[in-house]
Amino acid sequence: MRTLLPFRALNTLENVEYLDGLIALVQRAARGVIGRGAAKDVLHGVPMGHPLHPLAVQLPIGAWTSAVVLDIVPGAQRSSEALLAIGIVSALPAMAAGWTDWAELHPQQQRVGLVHAAANVSGTLLFAMSWVLRRQGHQSRGAAVSAAALATITLGGTLGGHLAYRLAAGANHAEEVPHLVAPGWQGLAKLADLPVEKLEKRALGDVPLLVWRSASGSVSVLSNKCSHLAGPLDEGVVMSPGPNPCVECPWHHSRFSLATGEVVQGPATSPQAAFKTRVVGGVVEICLPHAG
Ligand code: FES
Repeated sequence: MRTLLPFRALNTLENVEYLDGLIALVQRAARGVIGRGAAKDVLHGVPMGHPLHPLAVQLPIGAWTSAVVLDIVPGAQRSSEALLAIGIVSALPAMAAGWTDWAELHPQQQRVGLVHAAANVSGTLLFAMSWVLRRQGHQSRGAAVSAAALATITLGGTLGGHLAYRLAAGANHAEEVPHLVAPGWQGLAKLADLPVEKLEKRALGDVPLLVWRSASGSVSVLSNKCSHLAGPLDEGVVMSPGPNPCVECPWHHSRFSLATGEVVQGPATSPQAAFKTRVVGGVVEICLPHAG
C-alpha cells in the first residue's frame, strides 16, 4: 500500500541534509549548556532506567489539552488559564530532557528531532501568547490561539512518534538479545584463547558479544551492541580497570559495568544483557538469565 502523502514527507525529512549545518550549531550549544555531569544523566533518565523525556511531556500535553477542552465550557476560563500556566512551566524540564537526548542521536534522527522540537517550542510560545491575551481580557482570541497551539503541539507529537517508532530514538537497541539466545549453558571459547584485560569480540550464533577476561581470571560477557544506538562496545575503552571495570561506548560515551551490564553513565538508559559465566574443563560457558 502506498504511504499517504504527509507521511511520505516525514520520510523525506530524515534525509534533508541542508539542516545539518544548523544541527551542528544547535548540538554544540545544547552540549555546552547541558555539560557532562550528573545533571545530564538525570535528564537522559539514567537513574530511572527509562528515558525521562516521554514521561516529562505527559503533564504539559495533558494540561494544555484540558485547557482547550475547558475553553468550550461556560465559566471555566479561570481553570483554563491556570492549566495553560501549568503546561508552560512543566514544559521546561520536558524540553531540557528532549534536547539532552537529541544531542546524542544519529543525523537522520536529529533532522526529524529538530523539526519536532521547533514545532513544540512554537506551540509552547503560542500557549504563552494565549495566556497573555487572556490576562488582558481577550478570552476569545486567547482560546483561538490555544487551539492553534494544540494543533502545533500535535504535529510535534507526530514527529516524536516517528522518531521513536520509525527511527528508534530512545529505544533499547539490545532488546532482542534474550530472544536470540537459547536458554541454558553454552560453550563460548577456551579460556586460554581469551586475551587478558583486552576487549574481545565474539559471537553466539547471530548475537555479537563483548568478552572481558580480568587479570584475576574472571570472565565477563555482555551483548556487544550498545543499548543506546547499537554502537560496537568492543571498539570502546575500558574505564577504571580494577575490581569494577566498565566499558565506554565509542559513539556517545555511555558506560556499562562489565560485571553486571548496568548503565554507569548515559545517554543509554537500558542495561546491556549480561551473561553468567563459568569455566568447565578449560572452556568458558555462558548462560543468559531469562533467555529464550
Ligand atoms: S551507541 Fe550511543 S552510547 Fe553507545
